[in-house]
Amino acid sequence: MQRRDFLKLSAVTATWLLTGCGMGGGTNSSAVSFDNTKNKKLMIPTLLEGEERAGVKHFDLTIKESLHKFFDAYETKTYAVNGTYLAPTLKLNNGEDVSINYTNKLNETTTMHGHGMHVPAIMDGAAHQAIAPNTTWSAQYKVNQRASTNWYHPHLMGKTAEHVYQGLAGLIYVEDDEIRALDLPKTYGVDDIPLVLQDRFFDANGQIDYSPSRREIMRGYHGDIFIANGTINAYVDVQAKEIRFRILNGANSSVYNLQFSDGRSFKQIATDNSLLEAPVSLTNLRLSPAERAEIVVDLSNDLNSTLYFKDATTGNDFLKINVTSATQNPTSIPSKLTTLTRDSLGDAVKTRKFSLSANGPGDFRINGVSMNMGVVNERVPLNQVEVWEVTNTMGMVHNFHIHASHFIIAERNGLASNVAENEKGYKDVVFIGANDSVKLIVKMTDYTDSTKPYMYHCHFLEHEDAGMMGQFTVE
Ligand code: C2O
Ligand code: CU
Ligand code: CU
Repeated sequence: MQRRDFLKLSAVTATWLLTGCGMGGGTNSSAVSFDNTKNKKLMIPTLLEGEERAGVKHFDLTIKESLHKFFDAYETKTYAVNGTYLAPTLKLNNGEDVSINYTNKLNETTTMHGHGMHVPAIMDGAAHQAIAPNTTWSAQYKVNQRASTNWYHPHLMGKTAEHVYQGLAGLIYVEDDEIRALDLPKTYGVDDIPLVLQDRFFDANGQIDYSPSRREIMRGYHGDIFIANGTINAYVDVQAKEIRFRILNGANSSVYNLQFSDGRSFKQIATDNSLLEAPVSLTNLRLSPAERAEIVVDLSNDLNSTLYFKDATTGNDFLKINVTSATQNPTSIPSKLTTLTRDSLGDAVKTRKFSLSANGPGDFRINGVSMNMGVVNERVPLNQVEVWEVTNTMGMVHNFHIHASHFIIAERNGLASNVAENEKGYKDVVFIGANDSVKLIVKMTDYTDSTKPYMYHCHFLEHEDAGMMGQFTVE
């Protein structure tokens, strides 16, 4: 037995004895040893705006094996798009025609899903759009949604967790005229900073270790080394001004409770798929896997100081922020950001119920059945306002993601007042606490295809791969 396996087993056993069962975060230990006092400059993914060819913006991307320097002493084997870990940030504009061309240079099949993208099912890049080795698959569509921070990641049946864990994930920014007109920080990597937050296990040789036990499939695989944009112990130097962070919880199964080390308040300005109507003041931000939030923190009065952005649940830091210079470009976020149209519960003509359950590790279910690629579980009429009522029957947390849809959270546990202010923008992932239920208002618009399904699922990747997923068509 290798050292890490031993550590892992003993730690899990200890936690098991203490808590009996249920949620365990950070129960294992990586075997790698490294100097964790040393800060490294935060990697900023390359920003691609596309190359225009015949009126279409092309993004040419290569999915490949690579080596990444997480640690000074090791080269870590990864999967990456173009670079060495993660993927470039793609900037799309609402209304433009794009062709995102993925060439798979891995030795295995994968897929690339545009998470949060409102596109035809055949362009979704999910489980049915396999990309065999040495082939290219293109997601071609007209961008048709509000300004938002979305992302792309593999979605191969049974392999999503592993492929994401190896490093395949990138951001997709959608911009529109409305957001361009707002006085928001918008200089990429300077005052508008992408943050892909993850946790990972590393073995004694500094290699990424994806080896969930049955218990870890049940609880989710929670790594003990925290990473921002592929950087461990990251730091960033910023100006004394408002700084916007576009945050993706890119973890497989960890729910983060994000805060600044001095407990200061910040403003959330956007949810998964839209701006919030007005900024919402927070001191803590809960973000479950695949959720995004854009926040703005005001550092105008913090010249020459340092603070940390961290996960309060585990106490781990994601980012050290050094306020090193004055600014020539102050911004002042408006108090009104946008207006959202929303259907209400009373507009719904149908309720669909989804219950999340498990029949032991490795057998997760929705409405009593596990994901079956050959079965379309729901057929949804175009433009019909529906309530999707999702009930977590388990004593552990989950979340729920719907492809192609930007929904409204109408109720938690039967009450509209349980829906937090910062969840009132358009969403495509909703956190669902133990034994909780949510009512979502869903309306599928624009695209029909009676043969190619979209997916809905828990976005804890261990659960998704273990069957907590279903398929629907829009007809
Ligand atoms: Cu982030 Cu079904 O996907
Ligand atoms: Cu998705
Ligand atoms: Cu789950």
